[in-house]
Amino acid sequence: MLTFVSDELEQYAIDHTTNPGSPFNELAEEVRRELPSAGMMSGPTVGYLLNSLVFATGAKRVLEIGTFVGYSTLMMASALPDDGQVVTCDVDPEATDIARRYWAKSPHGSKIRLALGPALETMAEIEPGVDLVFIDADKENYPHYYERAMELLSPSGLIVMDNMLWGGRVLDPQDESDRAIRDAGDMVQADERVNNVMLTVRDGVLLIRKR
Ligand SMILES: C[S@@+](CC[C@H](N)C(=O)[O-])C[C@H]1O[C@@H](n2cnc3c(N)ncnc32)[C@H](O)[C@@H]1O
Repeated sequence: MLTFVSDELEQYAIDHTTNPGSPFNELAEEVRRELPSAGMMSGPTVGYLLNSLVFATGAKRVLEIGTFVGYSTLMMASALPDDGQVVTCDVDPEATDIARRYWAKSPHGSKIRLALGPALETMAEIEPGVDLVFIDADKENYPHYYERAMELLSPSGLIVMDNMLWGGRVLDPQDESDRAIRDAGDMVQADERVNNVMLTVRDGVLLIRKR
């Protein structure tokens, strides 16, 4: 688990977060059983943070960069009104097949559009006016995702960037991914167009809004 608190305390946080129920728990179980990369799945704490942000802001257009098995996607879709939509981008047909299978079990699955292909290509085609952008894909592209997200974001919109503490490696970056996350964090902090707050939820969630 990518967390900074003890496993017991993280479990306490999960135990004091709404239980998402079906189909989230079955999805999480299958992914933990079948995929070695299960740690990429956001889970209930980040999931309900996203769900609450979508609900509280009244977002209608959501863009997700990095679908994986669709846990966070469905969390956000569940908080959208009937005429809302999440466009979610990924390059992995196998993980997103699992996602599609579980979205089909939910009444909110019909609010999701999957764009298979490199996220920057999908982002190039999206119309501005997006209410919430969740950035959670390849770390090397985080600075590019942030720049394009700023172009797409509505004036009252939110950008949410996951893994922004990167297991603590932001303090002493060693490889390309470490440096990209550190650069993205520094880029946001120096950006006078925005107000931002680093939340120490799970692996670090950076919340950003335009001033
Ligand atoms: C951390 S996972 C996403 C987890 C998901 N958002 C959740 O919270 O459950 C990152 C995903 O980004 C995808 N990805 C990597 N490079 C990408 C790219 N260039 N464009 C789109 N998706 C990409 C990977 O295939 C992987 O499924």
